[in-house]
Amino acid sequence: MKIGIIGAGAIGKAFAGHATRAGYDVVISNSRGPESLTDLVKEIGSGIKASTTAEAIHADVIFLAINWKQVPQVVDVPEQWKGKIVIDPTNAIAFPQFKPIDLGNRTSSEIIQELIPGARVVKAFNTLPAAILAANPNESNGKRVVFISGNDDEAKTVVKSIINKIGFAPIDLGLLSTGGRLQQFGEPLAALNLLKL
Ligand SMILES: NC(=O)c1ccc[n+]([C@@H]2O[C@H](COP(=O)([O-])OP(=O)(O)OC[C@H]3O[C@@H](n4cnc5c(N)ncnc54)[C@H](OP(=O)(O)O)[C@@H]3O)[C@@H](O)[C@H]2O)c1
Repeated sequence: MKIGIIGAGAIGKAFAGHATRAGYDVVISNSRGPESLTDLVKEIGSGIKASTTAEAIHADVIFLAINWKQVPQVVDVPEQWKGKIVIDPTNAIAFPQFKPIDLGNRTSSEIIQELIPGARVVKAFNTLPAAILAANPNESNGKRVVFISGNDDEAKTVVKSIINKIGFAPIDLGLLSTGGRLQQFGEPLAALNLLKL
């Protein structure tokens, strides 16, 4: 299974390390092009390749590690996302105030799902700070918990298998409208670091 990571900042890099160590075929992109990722790819090691964002979108599973305001630009050709499983770790945060953006009644992942209706969006990996996500998920004989939510059960099964394979413990919270809300920045699960024994 090929995983395309869009965004090579703190969260993209943390996930890339785990996915590569678990043996996935990973490509990673940023806004400045593959040449700017030479050092990062060297640091992570074999199993990962720097790519363009267009190439990352060709993967089976896409990990959308970009800031909220960049989402519309990155998903601006919805047909390219048809059938893709999209892992959404984004948080809708206003900077520099560092406050949740008011999205009305919808959750951030529902908004992304509406932008790419043919894709299957699974919200995951957004509640752990990047340094904790990057760390070894096995701690004190437990596995670090990753919350997920989504409207497509098959996509959630795939994402749960990825989470298990990279050493974390998935907890499925249900739909994007309900579970996704609990996961949002400013809501109860944000920054909660749990271990499943
Ligand atoms: N940091 C955390 O602790 C944390 C925790 C949980 C969730 N999150 C969420 O995860 C997401 C990523 O956060 P982060 O801290 O990793 O952000 P970050 O360090 O600022 O990295 C953002 C990445 O997105 C890339 N990017 C920007 N525009 C792009 C485009 N048009 N096409 C492709 N790549 C593009 C940037 O590339 P360039 O550098 O080339 O511009 C950069 O590699 C955010 O939504 C954040 O809210 C973050």
